[in-house]
Amino acid sequence: MSESEIHYAIEFQKVTKTFGTHSVLKEVDFKIHEGKITTILGFSGAGKSTLLKHILGILKPTEGHIRVLDEDMANMSELQIREFRKNFGMVFQYAALFDSMSSFGNVAFPLKEFTSLNLEEIKDKVHKLLHSVGLTDESFDKLPSELSGGMRKRVGLARALALSPRVMLYDEPTTGLDPITTHMVDDLILSTAALGQVRKMTSVIISHDIAATLRISDYIAFLEQGEVVEHLPTQEFKKSENPIIRRFLDL
Ligand SMILES: Nc1ncnc2c1ncn2[C@@H]1O[C@H](COP(=O)(O)OP(=O)(O)OP(=O)(O)O)[C@@H](O)[C@H]1O
Ligand SMILES: [Mg+2]
Repeated sequence: MSESEIHYAIEFQKVTKTFGTHSVLKEVDFKIHEGKITTILGFSGAGKSTLLKHILGILKPTEGHIRVLDEDMANMSELQIREFRKNFGMVFQYAALFDSMSSFGNVAFPLKEFTSLNLEEIKDKVHKLLHSVGLTDESFDKLPSELSGGMRKRVGLARALALSPRVMLYDEPTTGLDPITTHMVDDLILSTAALGQVRKMTSVIISHDIAATLRISDYIAFLEQGEVVEHLPTQEFKKSENPIIRRFLDL
């Protein structure tokens, strides 16, 4: 593919973020490919969550620019950013469901809030979403407390997908899950990305899990003390000779 045919969903242009005198991001300059799965790896405190907050417009850079879906976030008002967030589906470390709402209610919530669909259409869409993440009808009316950790993840994923986001963001989606559930969630991320491929949905994952990252990512970026020190297709990343990355991979 020639450079002109490659599309990027997110571009960091020399982004520096300083809190007081501490620069947490230092001239971060990299582009995330549209329609692909990119994982951001790095040791604790490297600045991964800070990077994600910039994509969502929760934080603004001290210097530099971020283009998301061809829009410069720096030019947006608070209201425009809130509206713009409909383009994102966010899956948190702990599913972050509404405790008092059933699986159905959780997934219906964004549809009621942000679309003009009628109740019948919402019901139809919620059922399709819950089925698409592998949940069966008997779990639709259950509360989060009545579901297993893996099932809660599925509901969280269905809710994040409700508005057909152009970018799915996952902040440590498998931290704290057992190995089997971890594998299931990774497969779910893969199948979700595959389903979203027709509409060029982009997935950005923050992870500590090296094995899963190597298995499911198209591209891997490595963040070290606020700098992106490597950003490569997965096969090339595996062979990186950067000593920091070797140390991380060989842990
Ligand atoms: N609002 C803030 N004010 C001051 N310092 C902050 C703020 N947010 C983050 N930091 C600092 O920025 C650095 C990076 O934090 P960040 O949460 O982005 O790391 P991380 O890579 O996500 O780490 P982890 O893997 O532990 O989640 C840390 O030193 C943190 O203390
Ligand atoms: Mg973090």
